[in-house]
Amino acid sequence: IPVDPFDLVIFGATGDLAQRKILPGLYRRFHAGQMPQGARIIGAARSAMEPEAFREQVRKAIAEFVDRSKIDAKDVETFLECIDYVPVDAMGEGGWAELKDKVQDGRVHAFYFSVAPSLFGPLAERLNEHGIADSEARIVVEKPFGRDLASAKALNATLAAHFEESQIYRIDHYLGKETVQNLMAVRFANILFEPLWNAQYVDHVQITVAETVGVGGRGAYYDKSGAMRDMVQNHLMQLLCLIAMEPPYHFDPDAVRDEKVKVIRALQPVSPADIVRGQYAGVKASETRAAQPGYLEDSENPDSRTESYIALKVHVANWRWQGTPFYLRTGKKLRGRASEIAITFKAPPHSIFDEEDASWPENVLVIRLQPNEGMNLKVMIKEPGPGGMRLVQVPLDMSFAEALGEEGTDIPDAYERLIMDVIRGNQTLFMRGDEVEAAWAWTDPIIAGWEARGDRPRSYDPGSSGPEDALMLMHRDGRRWREIR
Ligand code: BG6
Repeated sequence: IPVDPFDLVIFGATGDLAQRKILPGLYRRFHAGQMPQGARIIGAARSAMEPEAFREQVRKAIAEFVDRSKIDAKDVETFLECIDYVPVDAMGEGGWAELKDKVQDGRVHAFYFSVAPSLFGPLAERLNEHGIADSEARIVVEKPFGRDLASAKALNATLAAHFEESQIYRIDHYLGKETVQNLMAVRFANILFEPLWNAQYVDHVQITVAETVGVGGRGAYYDKSGAMRDMVQNHLMQLLCLIAMEPPYHFDPDAVRDEKVKVIRALQPVSPADIVRGQYAGVKASETRAAQPGYLEDSENPDSRTESYIALKVHVANWRWQGTPFYLRTGKKLRGRASEIAITFKAPPHSIFDEEDASWPENVLVIRLQPNEGMNLKVMIKEPGPGGMRLVQVPLDMSFAEALGEEGTDIPDAYERLIMDVIRGNQTLFMRGDEVEAAWAWTDPIIAGWEARGDRPRSYDPGSSGPEDALMLMHRDGRRWREIR
């Protein structure tokens, strides 16, 4: 469905995110017929450059980051005609009058702040001062939204001085992922799961976001952040909320976000024994392995105590979840790239089968976020054959690509969907100010705790599934992590 005509101004248009995600994503939407005639994308950045030179950059970004099958020479040319550029000085007066001239009346206006958070304030101020952003304008901001509660509050206050909350779109790109939205469909459009979706029937939940990449190239940013701030406070927290929240009364931005905030507020402090932090080691060249730099080299900080891996056991203290632990883990340079949520159900209350034949491996519902998006429900059946009533666990496996054919494989990138939602004015998949603050309020004492104790992360082998201690986090509860493949 095409959206209304819009002017989208991208501040930081020559930066990495704009070139890798935002501009290629917009091209894909154009190619899919969703961008209306007359939509304008106005790049704004410090570099003095003619619009034609910027269009060349966009052409290159499309060639590099868009799948070949979607590149159509005529479409690229027509798309580039929608693109303009103005050099703008965020801290000074240069370029603002020109920008005002380019933004036309009578259409949706969105301003994407793809810049360092220190520029949010100056940009917001100038947009207002020059009368460029009207009361309907939308502001899009990226993570990191602060590095702790105090800085997040300060950012919220800066934005609130110029814009209403209904105008502010805080991006967490995990919410734009197809399967993440599917979590809500699976939970709230089926009767099957909801009656079992509580501590009485769920033994535990595992949320894994495993990556194979290291931090090379962005070590300086990452070293000040670490896995807790970079991934848990936002992406894993969002996944946890969608799994744990109560049904909202309607699929409506505030109804959904109200329920998520309640989950975050119900999160308990995490005890030091329930946290395992790791740092990937380097590899020396050998006959079987090529040399690889370790985290300390990648971060260029030989004394770094920042974690590139974290596993935590978390409790949601409310009526529904009391007693069901949520185990979260995420890390860099692990064995595989796999993001999934696994909900392990309890065993039936009484076994009618002989003990020996019924070891009751649990029912597990696995939702694969990436790659190979899909769902897998493990159920018990009788092992075929004459050998008596022997039970085996088999998967009911559904790959969205197979189930839905072409539509299932043609999944828009998270950014594409989120930008179109900004134009539509739908905030459901964006974080509200209070939500971000609640997430930091939970995260801050955990980080302060390990800093005060002077904890060092454990070293782990790149290509492994993380530090050994993380295995113990589950073993001592009589559970185990699902394998990372
Ligand atoms: C980003 C983090 O927000 O998410 C990165 O800053 C991480 O460190 C990335 O690699 C993971 O996103 P995705 O979509 O590749 O799972």
